[in-house]
Amino acid sequence: MNAPRCDRTTAWAALAGHYEAHGRDFDLRGAFAREPQRFDTHAIEAPEVFGDLSKNLVDLTTRRLLVELAGECRLAERRDALLAGEPVNVTEGRPVLHTALRAPRGAAPLNERVGPAPFSDDVHGVLDAMLAYAEGVRADAGITDVVNIGIGGSDLGPQMAVRALQRYTEPRLTMHFASNVDGHDLVPILERLDARRTLFVIASKTFTTQETMANAAVARQWFLKQGGTDIARHFAATTTNVTAAAAFGITTTFGFWDWVGGRYSLWSAIGLPIAIAIGEASFRELLAGAHAMDRHFATAPAERNLPLMLGLLDVWYRNFHGFASRSIAPYHQGLARLPAYLQQLEMESNGKRVDLAGAPLPFGTSPVVWGEPGTNGQHAYFQMLHQGSDVIPVEFIAVREPAHGEADLHRKLLANCLAQSQALMLGKTPDEARREQAPTAGAAFDRAALAMHRAFPGNRPSTTLVLDRLTPRSLGALIAMYEHRVYTSGALWGINSFDQWGVELGKALAGALLARLQSRDTTGLDASTAGLLKRLTA
Ligand code: F6P
Repeated sequence: MNAPRCDRTTAWAALAGHYEAHGRDFDLRGAFAREPQRFDTHAIEAPEVFGDLSKNLVDLTTRRLLVELAGECRLAERRDALLAGEPVNVTEGRPVLHTALRAPRGAAPLNERVGPAPFSDDVHGVLDAMLAYAEGVRADAGITDVVNIGIGGSDLGPQMAVRALQRYTEPRLTMHFASNVDGHDLVPILERLDARRTLFVIASKTFTTQETMANAAVARQWFLKQGGTDIARHFAATTTNVTAAAAFGITTTFGFWDWVGGRYSLWSAIGLPIAIAIGEASFRELLAGAHAMDRHFATAPAERNLPLMLGLLDVWYRNFHGFASRSIAPYHQGLARLPAYLQQLEMESNGKRVDLAGAPLPFGTSPVVWGEPGTNGQHAYFQMLHQGSDVIPVEFIAVREPAHGEADLHRKLLANCLAQSQALMLGKTPDEARREQAPTAGAAFDRAALAMHRAFPGNRPSTTLVLDRLTPRSLGALIAMYEHRVYTSGALWGINSFDQWGVELGKALAGALLARLQSRDTTGLDASTAGLLKRLTA
């Protein structure tokens, strides 16, 4: 597809001019005073997810120019190419079809232009088999613990979703997740388990990842040592490499395809632990929520398209305002693992520095994505968000109805969520600070200086996403929304969001160093690595 590089478009130049004239000094408080309709103008109602984008540093001109940028970069064609199964992962020569995993059987078209979801029969064959197996595990009184052994996309999605959907999970089953090759992860889990009552799911797209293979071997050895014999009953695999799983001795395997990226794989067989935890009906709801968001992304007009507008906003902040980071603040403890999940989704996808043709890009790409659930983050790093020297856009996620009956706790949680985005925007002037009674300063401390310490610059942008309830359906929609937002910014930057060559070098070097840790041979190593190796093996 011959789209111009984003920074060579007319819209980019116009955005640069607009930034100089109105963007750099854009004042949120003034914008709200001038525009009584600002909340409605910048609100987007997507399936299951409402987005308030009004507290962002944008006006209608910014929005129009960003939409023009999407047009010039042929974003709609790129989106359709993705959904139609064209090989958009150019460096690996593959299509990218996680959307096909959640399209209903014999699917209604993904949208009018791209037609039905490819591979529907294959997808639904595995899905049905996996869900039947999951129901079998849930009904099996002999199994009390399920241990998912996998890393990256074979861990973060299932772990995040099982935690988020805790109230939908089968209480008889305890779900465990071991990912790290550090034995402090798996070993304490094994110490608490009874081999006769445990099911291990070995989750690896490639079935070659060092950490997962090493942990799987330890689990199998532990199982046999505990007197376990029936590997077929106590081990299952989720992988594209069915042969390797069989060689490991696993006969219950649920496959998937190379067109499912690791960080986009929770909808595939990699979702098995989610299906075991929440059951078939809820897993299908998760898929349905994601599919509803796929259709929204495929069909909603740009200004009303939530993932698209958030992706455009990411470009505006990263490339014009120069913000290098975004903080995620889910005000729901169930979403505690969401920031970690989004780190892989966004930073492994868009942490790239060359375009599709391999030419270095002269502008920034993925921001650093990080966060913690509110209100915990407020008592840790929010100080920096409010008064630090860098502007960091914050993404609040609020859930209207809690899954518990403690209404007062929930009101307090929501009050905090609203208060934080309000405080970031409004700030507090030195004059306002001076008029306050400062409770902590000594009498000798200069009052004007104290007011400067107590002032907040304000005008700090945030987005608030609202779910009515945290359900399988709304979680599916929320995650799919993030996937498409990442695709949007990646497509505008002209990068391949679907490879991850950057993790390969470390893997290769770790292989070489593993042998040296045993031999203690430091010949030819750089002085630092040699010194550390000696110190660690002394
Ligand atoms: O970290 C690189 C990576 O390839 C991720 O993209 C992937 O999710 C993870 O490793 C695990 O890979 P696999 O599922 O093949 O074990």
